[in-house]
Amino acid sequence: MKNELSNIVIADENAMLQFGAKLAEYCGDTAVIFLYGDLGAGKTTLARGFLRGLGYTDKVKSPTYTIVEPYAVQHKKIFHFDLYRVSDPRELEFIGIQDYFIPQAICLVEWPEHGKEVLPVADLSCHIDTQMTGREIKLTANTERGRKILAQLA
Ligand SMILES: Nc1ncnc2c1ncn2[C@@H]1O[C@H](COP(=O)(O)OP(=O)(O)OP(=O)(O)O)[C@@H](O)[C@H]1O
Ligand SMILES: [Mg+2]
Repeated sequence: MKNELSNIVIADENAMLQFGAKLAEYCGDTAVIFLYGDLGAGKTTLARGFLRGLGYTDKVKSPTYTIVEPYAVQHKKIFHFDLYRVSDPRELEFIGIQDYFIPQAICLVEWPEHGKEVLPVADLSCHIDTQMTGREIKLTANTERGRKILAQLA
């Protein structure tokens, strides 16, 4: 099974929403996905597409100030993190980070670089590169679970 899916071209915001929805389709009830990319790369947009794809219709806001935003859709637990403002991993221990990364949940994490000392290994790492027009995505599977999701996406 392949560990990587690269050169995924995302032409515009709508395509990013669609990509998020497609990813959601193959994640079942459990996955840890790290979202890498510069400010404005489209990480929150992908997460929004992921949630909307599952049928969530309310607003999906960026959890920059709250660190984590919980969602319940289709009997799935989804935790959307934004660690941009986290400067010390102890802040994550303080919010009880390990209680979120449970097998019965999906965790989408923006700025995982800011929590790498305390975060578990991601099933999938998603790198978003800003191009002249649009974005390009590279997905890397780091676990067996991640490879399964990747195989379905390919
Ligand atoms: N191909 C594209 N995919 C995603 N977003 C795009 C694309 N082209 C333009 N955009 C725009 O880029 C912005 C992406 O914002 P978004 O909040 O998703 O980024 P982010 O990676 O979460 O940033 P931050 O690190 O600040 O949280 C949106 O305003 C969106 O309309
Ligand atoms: Mg964001």
